[in-house]
Amino acid sequence: MAFIEIQGLMKSYRRGAEPVEALRGIDLSVEEGAFLGVMGPSGSGKSTLLSILGGLCHPTAGKVSVDGIDLYGLGGDRLADFRREYLGFVFQSFNLVSYLTALENVMLPLAVQKIPTAQKREKARVVLARVGLSGRADHLPDQLSGGEQERVAIARALVNEPPLILADEPTGSLDTATAEEIMELFRELNSEGLSIVMVTHNPENRSHFHRIVTLRDGRVEKLSQPPSLAVGC
Ligand SMILES: Nc1ncnc2c1ncn2[C@@H]1O[C@H](COP(=O)(O)OP(=O)(O)OP(=O)(O)O)[C@@H](O)[C@H]1O
Ligand SMILES: [Mg+2]
Repeated sequence: MAFIEIQGLMKSYRRGAEPVEALRGIDLSVEEGAFLGVMGPSGSGKSTLLSILGGLCHPTAGKVSVDGIDLYGLGGDRLADFRREYLGFVFQSFNLVSYLTALENVMLPLAVQKIPTAQKREKARVVLARVGLSGRADHLPDQLSGGEQERVAIARALVNEPPLILADEPTGSLDTATAEEIMELFRELNSEGLSIVMVTHNPENRSHFHRIVTLRDGRVEKLSQPPSLAVGC
């Protein structure tokens, strides 16, 4: 069985009296260690797919399993445990807490762990160093550049050592050079064994992915390899 298995996934939202069919039957398997890009036009269902994969939003129909765990067969508490153990989330807006330092932001996911604060601080320092931010631990988010804030968000996603990172447009608000640095960081993390599913609009990111799934109107339009890997002999 693949690391991620998605079968017959459907999601409809209610907007007033009108249902919105955001996902209309998605089937997808993703191997462990993959770097999967999710692309497609605005409104095609990319964020919805990622939220469902992250256990944040219940599907209307279909099945999602990660590492053999049937996410929506779990109860609420166990779904929360699953998220903590398996997932790191990175969003476009970083979602950093403005009055906490970079280090404190990275420590947030450790709040529920029963380990001494000094050990939490040390773990956070290690991941901040991993994303190249050792010198910025005591800065508040507004004292950091956009790329540095993104790195803090990535460090926070990594601090629990999850096997899977879900990222929704993580480079969407960055300039081209900074976005490329962040993609390079994701690529390094992937080569160290982390599985990554990333939503992006940016065609320049295509070459980083192992595979790209393109959505259109809530369906898989195309499942492809990037041009650099798709060459024949
Ligand atoms: N909470 C919600 N309530 C009602 N409709 C929603 C909700 N969230 C998303 N939708 C609708 O579902 C469809 C898919 O939305 P989704 O956010 O998944 O698209 P997307 O591909 O991520 O788009 P974008 O590239 O603009 O971020 C859209 O038509 C959207 O308007
Ligand atoms: Mg979206």
